[in-house]
Amino acid sequence: MIKACVIGYPIKHSRSPLIHGYWLKALGIEGTYQKVEVSPADLAPFLKGLPRSTYIGCNITLPHKEAASTLVDQLDDRAKRTGSINTVYVRDGLTHATSTDGQGFVANIRWRTPNYEFNGKRVLVLGAGGSSRAIIDELLRCNVAQIFLANRTLVRAEKIAGSFDAGILPLSLTDLTQVLGGVDLLINTTSAGIADDSNLDIAFEKLPRTALVTDINYVPLITPFLQQAEASGLPIVPGLGMLLHQAVTGFELWFGTRPTVTDELYALVARDIDPGYVS
Ligand code: ATR
Repeated sequence: MIKACVIGYPIKHSRSPLIHGYWLKALGIEGTYQKVEVSPADLAPFLKGLPRSTYIGCNITLPHKEAASTLVDQLDDRAKRTGSINTVYVRDGLTHATSTDGQGFVANIRWRTPNYEFNGKRVLVLGAGGSSRAIIDELLRCNVAQIFLANRTLVRAEKIAGSFDAGILPLSLTDLTQVLGGVDLLINTTSAGIADDSNLDIAFEKLPRTALVTDINYVPLITPFLQQAEASGLPIVPGLGMLLHQAVTGFELWFGTRPTVTDELYALVARDIDPGYVS
């Protein structure tokens, strides 16, 4: 019996067990995937003890993604560049870690927009936290032409922009008017309107009519940001697919089979968020 888990603090709202449980059943694999609440004080002992535990690995969620990256034996290139991890696996008595958020983001866009070509696109990323950094790292691997990075606190955008070699342009959120007309892909990574009642107040009508709009938040499934984009006639990609796609690599590392993100899985998790969801 192979065992994996997700650790965070708090952990009770995690939907990862639903995702991995679905794949374990669908693929007929004898394994388990559980939620384990690990406080910040317990993080180091948990990760240091992982090779001697019954777990083959774990996902890492809030608030541990950055701290955990200093507590494992081996980081891959993505983990090193993003400074945060969400997936840990044990091999030969050592803990190895990676960050799959960026890949999950890109895979979700390609899943919902078949044949989507990132190469040459001009992208506006809103928000300058850990998710923003992971997404930017992956967008650069996909050869986008330009990244504008806007944040309420400009200095955080400047810091991320300066950490990549790629000429990312940091902006203040109040300074978007001059760039919106030249954006092909708009990504919200901020928690504005999710954790509070605020509104980012984006002039969606200034975007080219073909610009794709997406949000990494998925509660509600169609966030206020996406509702506004949709109301102005723009194509949208909801964020829940990113959660499903970021889970693929971990499952493969622990259980040995690469799982598929299906419409059935999407509906299962969507109904957990919104019982009225119909596909
Ligand atoms: P992550 O979960 O990606 O690691 P985080 O570090 O919690 O993100 O950052 C949240 C992001 O949402 C930040 O970019 C934050 O802006 P600041 O850096 O200025 O704090 C942004 N954010 C949160 N509430 C916001 C609001 N009401 N308006 C605009 N941006 C907001």
